[in-house]
Amino acid sequence: MIGSLMMRTATMILVIGMIWGIEMGIRQSFAMAPAHAHLNLVGGVLLFVFGLYYKHFPTAGGSALAKWQGWLHITGSILFPLGIALVLAKGEAFIALPIIGSLIVLLAIALFALIVFRTSRA
Ligand code: HEM
Repeated sequence: MIGSLMMRTATMILVIGMIWGIEMGIRQSFAMAPAHAHLNLVGGVLLFVFGLYYKHFPTAGGSALAKWQGWLHITGSILFPLGIALVLAKGEAFIALPIIGSLIVLLAIALFALIVFRTSRA
């Protein structure tokens, strides 16, 4: 079920995001803070909460739309922070990555809104 995959992926992302935070602290170099923040919040917190919703409403979690939503969110929540990090480290040449990543996340959130409006009365 996509909900379990989303929650498992979210916990992995949080482990990586927190190690990244510790690494920033050790190096006393905080340039990557926006990428770290988006990885933890979009890829960790949001992904886990959406997975919980699908567990709570199995009709929603079992739908084909939820599968699309989950995979889009997972893809976007990795591409978006990775893009931010690349722009911060290498410059504007990589600007397409965070733009595409953020649009994928936006699409995933819009799909999630649709799913919630359809199923949250159940
Ligand atoms: C082991 C756990 C974590 C460590 C060691 C850590 C470390 C850090 C560090 C060093 C900064 C930069 C601070 C600065 O610029 O002065 C930061 C910023 C931030 N972190 Fe974390 N973090 C951790 C977990 C998390 C989690 C779980 C979240 C969210 C769910 C989070 C969200 C943020 C946010 C929103 C910022 C501010 C980003 C910005 O100012 O651009 N962090 N973190």
